[in-house]
Amino acid sequence: MAFVSLGAILIALASAPPTTSGSNIADLGYARYEGLHNTSLGLITYYGLPYAQAPTGDLSEDCLHLDIIAPDKPKSASLPVVVQIHGGGYTLGNSLTFDGTQFTAVANGSIIYVQIQYRLGPYGFLGSEEIRQNGTANAGLLDQRAALEWIQRHISAFGGDPEKVTILGGSAGGGSITNQLILYGGNSTPPFRAAIPEYPWWQPFHDDTVLELQYRDLLNVTQCNNLDCLRMLDSSTLTNASQAIFEIGYATGQYGVGDFYFGPSVDGVTIRELPSHEFEQGHFAKVPLLIDHNAYEGVIFTNLSIRSAEVEPDLETLWPNARNNSAFFTRLFELYPASAFTGTYLSDPIQANYSALASPDSIVQATAFYQRQTIFADAFVTCPTYYVASAFVDAGVPVWKLRFAAGLGIHGATQPNLFSAPAAQTNPTYGAWMKDYWISFIVFGDPNATPMVVGKPQWPQYLAVNGPDASFQVLEFNQTNVGTNIDADASARCDFLHGQSYRVRN
Ligand SMILES: *[C@@H]1O[C@H](CO)[C@@H](O)[C@H](O)[C@H]1NC(C)=O
Ligand SMILES: *[C@@H]1O[C@H](CO)[C@@H](O)[C@H](O)[C@H]1NC(C)=O
Ligand SMILES: *[C@@H]1O[C@H](CO)[C@@H](O)[C@H](O)[C@H]1NC(C)=O
Ligand SMILES: *[C@@H]1O[C@H](CO)[C@@H](O)[C@H](O)[C@H]1NC(C)=O
Ligand SMILES: *[C@@H]1O[C@H](CO)[C@@H](O)[C@H](O)[C@H]1NC(C)=O
Ligand SMILES: *[C@@H]1O[C@H](CO)[C@@H](O)[C@H](O)[C@H]1NC(C)=O
Ligand SMILES: *[C@@H]1O[C@H](CO)[C@@H](O)[C@H](O)[C@H]1NC(C)=O
Ligand SMILES: *[C@@H]1O[C@H](CO)[C@@H](O)[C@H](O)[C@H]1NC(C)=O
Ligand SMILES: *[C@@H]1O[C@H](CO)[C@@H](O)[C@H](O)[C@H]1NC(C)=O
Repeated sequence: MAFVSLGAILIALASAPPTTSGSNIADLGYARYEGLHNTSLGLITYYGLPYAQAPTGDLSEDCLHLDIIAPDKPKSASLPVVVQIHGGGYTLGNSLTFDGTQFTAVANGSIIYVQIQYRLGPYGFLGSEEIRQNGTANAGLLDQRAALEWIQRHISAFGGDPEKVTILGGSAGGGSITNQLILYGGNSTPPFRAAIPEYPWWQPFHDDTVLELQYRDLLNVTQCNNLDCLRMLDSSTLTNASQAIFEIGYATGQYGVGDFYFGPSVDGVTIRELPSHEFEQGHFAKVPLLIDHNAYEGVIFTNLSIRSAEVEPDLETLWPNARNNSAFFTRLFELYPASAFTGTYLSDPIQANYSALASPDSIVQATAFYQRQTIFADAFVTCPTYYVASAFVDAGVPVWKLRFAAGLGIHGATQPNLFSAPAAQTNPTYGAWMKDYWISFIVFGDPNATPMVVGKPQWPQYLAVNGPDASFQVLEFNQTNVGTNIDADASARCDFLHGQSYRVRN
């Protein structure tokens, strides 16, 4: 696992000029930090600022740092702020996973970018009974909230406006954004004013049986009897033990292929109910939302060798609560019949490209593979964007939704267009447009407010259109075109999965 503490580039100065926005000295009262000035990009970056007490000793791991990227020529003395929560399945990654340097440079003095770290794997996401009683479940989500509170207190020292914070993340970062929206049942005054959950990762919220097995396995592997003992372990021992229980958990059927095993859970306090229920019931922070997913979210989380007869057993490991439930599987396979994953489905250009990239012979049975990837995609990412976006519409909050069927179209496909240097983008025009929508949303709460790039299409708000068959509009990027379409996720498939939330656990 990659738990990275960034090299501290923190210089406490004996005396320094007063803080002014655009200078590379920030005075927080308790410390003064000096940022690195990159004159060619016009940015000042402060790496590795601690935002909470280091959770070492009897708290375990020291990673609670964030980086701040500020322009050297800010457009105003108090800029809108975007905070990135990185992805990596709640087990991998760090603040540089999708570094905001290129994005901030393009924003041209109009935003401040913050990228945060939080505890991962068992450090951040144990949830057994003992953890709830004598520790804290969902600690990783509370780390994220602590970072957001720190930003409220201190971002003005870097030229940021604490009233104008947007939170952003992809994958488990997107899942983290949706969890921040429902934290404590949905704060009415959250420490942010807008949110961008990209391809939000809604892996199953493991039930108490699995959470308990996971915890018992950890005690067993470390030869500990309780949480106090776990807290005293050094991080190398605990990291090795977490890898060991990851393997034990898979071997004993606690979770399935594509699930990262560690992640948020329902604890009744920070996360009160499964997220689909919280959104459906209006228990979320009501802030403008920009949400997206990619065309083939399940491809990289599906066993290339899977055969038709293995699809149902595979899904039973993902969803222990659906095991042996013939009604569930009958309906599921009515909605996702193997016959839907043959012929023209397999000639889709993204598919053809993915198959080629994945090496031509590696997919053993294309139909079984794409049937399983589609079910996984819908359950873990795609349908959740519909649950969330439609809940925001029901609450009268503006929301914009995007489907990205360009590039490889797989999980994470939007990212090069937002965070890579222009040369690494799949399509520089798409990259320019996407950054433009995002920056406009971060600055004005509306992706269409500033057409900085000429020719960028209008992104319609996600609102029901007229008539009894009302549907929702999304902006769709494909290989050749960007246009408006109705949301294909407003579907019988997603309605079924939503109705089965206690079996699929999200
Ligand atoms: C500034 O950023 C550019 C582009 O990322 C990089 O090539 C260059 O080395 C950086 N300069 C400094 C002084 O860090
Ligand atoms: C950046 O600022 C310059 C100078 O004001 C302007 O010419 C350019 O269009 C701006 N670019 C963007 C993306 O805002
Ligand atoms: C919490 O800790 C106390 C004191 O160590 C212990 O007696 C109790 O059993 C623990 N609770 C759980 C649920 O393990
Ligand atoms: C604890 O681990 C040992 C091997 O280290 C194994 O034999 C035993 O079954 C495990 N006990 C439980 C309760 O999982
Ligand atoms: C953790 O695993 C690594 C690699 O297998 C090993 O080198 C290291 O000694 C282990 N640490 C502990 C404390 O067992
Ligand atoms: C993938 O499927 C093949 C064929 O059934 C199987 O041998 C292999 O163990 C599977 N891999 C995983 C990680 O389950
Ligand atoms: C599920 O069915 C399998 C065989 O079809 C059986 O071995 C197993 O005991 C059943 N599990 C439960 C929980 O009913
Ligand atoms: C397929 O990949 C090739 C090579 O990367 C690329 O030129 C082409 O545009 C891709 N086509 C599609 C439809 O993605
Ligand atoms: C891309 O979208 C346009 C309309 O927006 C559509 O006409 C075209 O068929 C789409 N291409 C693919 C490969 O889906």
